[in-house]
Amino acid sequence: MNFEFTEEQLMIRQAARDFSKKLEADVIERDAKAEYPTGHVKELSELGFMGMMVDPEYGGGGMDTVSYVLAMEEISRVDASVSVIMSVNNSLVCYGIGKYGSEEQKQKYLPPLASGEKIGAFLLSEPEAGSDATHQRTTGEDKGDHYLVNGTKNWITSANSGSVYLVAVQTHPEKKHHGINVLIVDKDTPGISLGPHEDKMGMRSSDTHSVMFTDVKVPKENRIGEDGFGFKFAMKTLEGGRIGIASQALGIAVGAYERALQYSKERKAFGKLLCDHQSIAFKLADMYVKIENARNLCLKAAWLKDNDKPYGLASAMAKQYAADIAMEVTTEAVQIHGGYGYVKEYHVERLMREAKLTQIYEGTSEVQKIVISRSILRE
Ligand code: CAA
Repeated sequence: MNFEFTEEQLMIRQAARDFSKKLEADVIERDAKAEYPTGHVKELSELGFMGMMVDPEYGGGGMDTVSYVLAMEEISRVDASVSVIMSVNNSLVCYGIGKYGSEEQKQKYLPPLASGEKIGAFLLSEPEAGSDATHQRTTGEDKGDHYLVNGTKNWITSANSGSVYLVAVQTHPEKKHHGINVLIVDKDTPGISLGPHEDKMGMRSSDTHSVMFTDVKVPKENRIGEDGFGFKFAMKTLEGGRIGIASQALGIAVGAYERALQYSKERKAFGKLLCDHQSIAFKLADMYVKIENARNLCLKAAWLKDNDKPYGLASAMAKQYAADIAMEVTTEAVQIHGGYGYVKEYHVERLMREAKLTQIYEGTSEVQKIVISRSILRE
C-alpha cells in the first residue's frame, strides 16, 4: 500500500492550511455572535474549495476525495463552521447533482455551485424524521408538469446563505420510501420561508434554520433521477457526505490535540512541565493514536471512493469513529488545560462543542452503527 500523498494533494493541504490561519483571527468572535463567515466563504470560493471535486467540465476543481479529506482536516482544525459549509456544498449538493443529475441539471446548477456564486443545502431532515429518514412527511404532489411541495425541513445547514436546495419529498405515500423524490429547488421560489436562526451549541457561525414549504411549485424537470429514486439518492449521497464530516471531526480533534500539546509544553505544575507528568503524557499518547486511526479510516474511505470501489461501510466507520474520538480528544484537551480550558480564549471548549455536532449530523453515531452492523451481518 502507498501511504504517500501526491504533489498535488500536498499543495492542496498547504493551501487549506494557509487559508485556515486567517480563520483564527475572528473565529472566537464569530462563534460568540453566531455570525456567518461571509468573507471567508468568498475566499474559500476564490481558492476553488467550494467545488473542489466537481468535474472541470462544469467549472469545478476536479480534485480527488483524498485531497478533499486533507483540506477538510486543515480547515476544521481551526473552524468547523466554515468547513461544514464547504462540506455540504461539495459532497452532498455538488456530488449529488454531478453523479445523478441530468445533463441539463448539471449545466444549470454545477457551475455556480462550484464557483461559490451559489451555495447548496441538503434538505432531508424533518421535525419528525431525523435518523428515521424513510418517514418523510413533506409532500410533493404530482401535478402533471410540476410538483406541489408542502411541509417543513429541520436543521438545515446553509438554509439562509444557500440558494440551491436539494429537497426530499414524499410523492407516493403508499409506496413508503420508494415514493420519495429529491427535487432541486431554487430558494427564491414563492412559498418558501425560513424559521429563525438556530441558536446552536457549536458551529455557531454556520447558518442553520428550518425551512417551510407552502404550495411551492417545482417543475418536474427538477426531479433527480427516475420517479421514486429519492431515498436511494439520499443514502448514496450521504455515503460521501459522511467522509466529509468524518474529516471534519478528525480536524477538530487535531486542533484540540495540538493546542493541548502546546499548552503542556508551556505550563508548569508541581515543579515541572505538564508534559513531563506521565498522567498528561499518556493522555497525549492516547489522543495521538486515536487521531491517527481516524485519519486512516477517512483516507481509506476516500481512496475507495476515488477508485470506484464500494465505500458505504468505510465512510460509516470513518464517521462514527472520527466523531466519537473527536468528542473524547476535545474533552481531554479541555482537561489538560484545566480552568483555562473552560474559557473561550483557549479555543478548546469551542472545539469540544463543535465535536458534539459531528456525532449528531449526517447520521448520528448510532445511525453509523446501524449501517456498519447491517453490513457485517450481511457478510
Ligand atoms: N445505498 C443505496 N441504498 C440504500 C442505502 C445505501 N447506502 N442504504 C439503504 N438503502 C436502501 C435499502 O437497500 C432499502 O431499499 P429497499 O427497500 O429497496 O430494499 C432502503 O434504502 C431502506 O433501507 P433501510 O431498510 O436500511 O432503511 P432504514 O429505515 O432502516 O434506515 C438508516 C437506514 C441508515 C438509519 C437511514 O435512514 C439513515 O441513514 N438515516 C440517517 C439520515 C441522515 O444521515 N440524515 C442527515 C441529514 S443531512 C445533514 O445532516 C446535512 C447537513 O445539513 C449537515
